[in-house]
Amino acid sequence: MNVLITGGAGFIGSNFVKYMLKEHTEYNIINLDALTYAGNLENLKNIGDNEKYTFIKADIRDKKKIEEVFKEYDINAVVNFAAESHVDRSIEEPEVFLTTNVIGTQILLDIAKKNWKLNPQDKHCRKYKAGVNFLQVSTDEVYGELGKEGLFVETMPLLPNNPYSASKASADLMVRAYHETFGMPINITRCSNNYGPYQFPEKLIPLIINNCLKGNDLPIYGDGMQIRDWLYVTDHCSAIDTVLHRGINGEVYNIGGNNEKANIEIVKLIIEALGKSEDLITYVKDRPGHDRRYAIDNTKIITELGWKPSYTFEEGIKETIKWYLDNTQWMENIVSGNYMGYYKKMYKDVDEDGR
Ligand code: NAD
Ligand code: DAU
Repeated sequence: MNVLITGGAGFIGSNFVKYMLKEHTEYNIINLDALTYAGNLENLKNIGDNEKYTFIKADIRDKKKIEEVFKEYDINAVVNFAAESHVDRSIEEPEVFLTTNVIGTQILLDIAKKNWKLNPQDKHCRKYKAGVNFLQVSTDEVYGELGKEGLFVETMPLLPNNPYSASKASADLMVRAYHETFGMPINITRCSNNYGPYQFPEKLIPLIINNCLKGNDLPIYGDGMQIRDWLYVTDHCSAIDTVLHRGINGEVYNIGGNNEKANIEIVKLIIEALGKSEDLITYVKDRPGHDRRYAIDNTKIITELGWKPSYTFEEGIKETIKWYLDNTQWMENIVSGNYMGYYKKMYKDVDEDGR
């Protein structure tokens, strides 16, 4: 199998590339990534020399390049992670979320369709080469927010509340449309919040760990009582692998590990693990349109495909904190770049000196 993984230099993508090389030693893994601010080749450096692995620096919106990659590597599966992924950035600058997350996905779909259709000239042909699949990595945010009760199930309507989730929902609908209109083999996965090694420090957990280690203020949006459902990143990887191999054509699968936590709980847990003081907690202005609660019903992937998560939150967060303590240079290389400019712009409520 020749698997095209897009966005494989980001947080989840880089974990997935390494997961696949380990679990499927016979597969050719082609990692295509534009290396935006979030893409980092350091995330992949322990792969070393592996003849089954190829990295290509390219943008999923570059039709010509994507065509070439499909031809040269005879791609028969796509796992599309490539995206702008941060909600706060989407509130500042929505446009790139549309071009990458929606148009980029449509370009990948179109080129996959052309290369995989048994008769590409016939617009009514719904037959595809054996074994091909397009797996769209989506998010639970497409469902919008939950009240105090209830869980996201796959059949719920999509009600995204911010430009990021609206772009991911649009991409999901485009993937669905290629399945319905052209008969293209697809799956969509919708996962809850991931955490673990190599997560960019714009996201809650690595941002809090980094600020704690430096003794800087810990910015909590609003009252800190928003709830997210956390999943350790390698459990997300094993779920995607499961859907790629056992998913029913055309189906959507939610992915989550039943770990609902309020943001403030997580922040306090990290403070305690690092032996810091709760005095660092600083309540700042809330995120506009901030979703109050996410929680995944994972019954379908568990009962129909036999997947289950292997980390409890307590194990996962312990590993994560240890990883950041053992890899301070990785963090320094990021925060010494243009990250500081981003941080100062976004966290104006926090002390002037970058704290
Ligand atoms: P990330 O921001 O860490 O990584 C995104 C990667 O995509 C980067 O390597 C970046 O360089 C690349 N990229 C961006 N634009 C590109 C383009 N136009 N062409 C090619 N590559 C491009 O994101 P992440 O947290 O690893 O998320 C990966 C995927 O998983 C995203 O699609 C996201 O929506 C989804 N997801 C994330 C979470 C989460 O908690 N992080 C949860 C559910 C789903
Ligand atoms: O639910 C899945 C989604 O999870 C993914 O699709 C997104 O790509 C990913 O970024 C994540 O989105 P969130 O907005 O939930 O993650 P983030 O880490 O940005 O924020 C988690 C919670 O913490 C959220 O309620 C906002 C809050 N927060 C975040 C930051 C960065 C703070 O209180 N302070 C902060 O400084």
